[in-house]
Amino acid sequence: MTIDRMTTGAQLRQRRERLGLSQAKLAEISGVSQHLLSAFELGKVALAAPDLAVTLDAIRDSDQVMAVSTRTKRYRERCYSEPPMLAARVAKAKPTRGNPGYVALLRELHAAHCAPKTADLSALSLFSGCGGFSLGFSAAGFSIKGFVEREEPLRAIYRQNFSDGVEIGADITAISDGDLAARAAEIGPIDVIIGGPPCQGFSLSGKRKVDDPRNQLFRHYLRFVDMFRPKMAVLENVRVLTSMRNAAGGLVRDDIRAEFGRHGYKVDFFEVNAKDYGVPQHRERVLFVAVRNDLPGHPSMPAATHGSGGGLFPGKLAWRTFADACSDLAYLESGGRSSDSLHEAVSHPSHVIEWLWDVPEGSSAHDNSDPQMRPPSGYNTTYKRQVWNEPAATVQTTFGMISGCRNVHPVATRALTIREAARLQSFPDTYRFGGTLGCIRTGIGNAVPPLLARAIAMHVRRML
Ligand SMILES: C[S@@+](CC[C@H](N)C(=O)[O-])C[C@H]1O[C@@H](n2cnc3c(N)ncnc32)[C@H](O)[C@@H]1O
Repeated sequence: MTIDRMTTGAQLRQRRERLGLSQAKLAEISGVSQHLLSAFELGKVALAAPDLAVTLDAIRDSDQVMAVSTRTKRYRERCYSEPPMLAARVAKAKPTRGNPGYVALLRELHAAHCAPKTADLSALSLFSGCGGFSLGFSAAGFSIKGFVEREEPLRAIYRQNFSDGVEIGADITAISDGDLAARAAEIGPIDVIIGGPPCQGFSLSGKRKVDDPRNQLFRHYLRFVDMFRPKMAVLENVRVLTSMRNAAGGLVRDDIRAEFGRHGYKVDFFEVNAKDYGVPQHRERVLFVAVRNDLPGHPSMPAATHGSGGGLFPGKLAWRTFADACSDLAYLESGGRSSDSLHEAVSHPSHVIEWLWDVPEGSSAHDNSDPQMRPPSGYNTTYKRQVWNEPAATVQTTFGMISGCRNVHPVATRALTIREAARLQSFPDTYRFGGTLGCIRTGIGNAVPPLLARAIAMHVRRML
């Protein structure tokens, strides 16, 4: 194979792998960022001529290639079965004052969800995921009459917890108008439609492409609104949606408002943070609330109940913390197991544990003063410890990866367990999560925290 200025990404990858060079090492010897090399190899971007030239030069320099590819690992193999100062750490992770109250609150949330519905209020859940949004509405007294979710493993979790709702369909875009009409006749009148179309198309962590077809999914949400004509509709998404622009340069949030208006609804949007509603997690979201034009109410959100606990927010309860959510759970280090099958720690390589072992709360292994103790690449939001006595960082679907964004436990040196993430998202321990661990993590990371959903649902209930 000739390697010249016409080299494609696939050719470069083939050549690099034959030489036993990792992308990181090629980045090191060429000076071209690993991020760029990776995108080029995947065919996502073209490499600028000077970058391609230095990359090819680096690959041709056999001495240099040999030096980096045979370099021994800078990581020492260490055993952390009896790590230093473990007793002090276990002692620190004792239940906090707020913990018993929080655990009891989640138990009560689940009991309310399971209680017979007496208020004759109904809701339909679109893009239902594993059911966080629905759980909050159910706990506020709404019967969830039907749901739509594309992924079978998530539908399976949903069915485990909401056995009464009609499974309207999988892919919302594949539900014909005829099928939708038949389902509407079967289900009957609905008070509220709730749903959070996938956020990747809007999210800053995704590509934020204006023509991403996922950005059009809210139009299918409106098809349901047209068919059922609910009294209200609530649409949840990531907060950055409020600054997302459409192909013509207008704001997507204005499109959403205009569409609801065209369909006969008064609508407004509200930026919220889940921690202000008692969820022990910083999670910023936008909620569009729509009220049918013939009804008297106006879109609004419930007032926040929690704040910093200082003089700035008199009358509010203090934000719940990571410790309030998780401090009663068994203390686990990397690879540790407990009697709860969802509270099991992923095993991490010993060199990663070494990087992180002495990293203080709120800091990253990238902040280590010794360069040998820093990860070779990445941002200092990764390999980062959370803070025990503060609300947790936003739970994402990747919370089980220690290299992810703020995924390291505040005290133990490992990524979060599923139980911890579920608690931080305010799912009760009795919520049923079946299926693969990957699917459970996706469902939890994407969910509307049930406690936030319940606060919204109680407000909607009062409006109705
Ligand atoms: C942000 S999550 C919703 C989470 C949910 N609100 C909760 O609280 O658990 C979005 C969901 O939409 C689903 N989805 C994506 N495209 C879909 C489609 N075309 N039809 C139906 N569901 C879809 C995804 O599988 C994902 O579970």
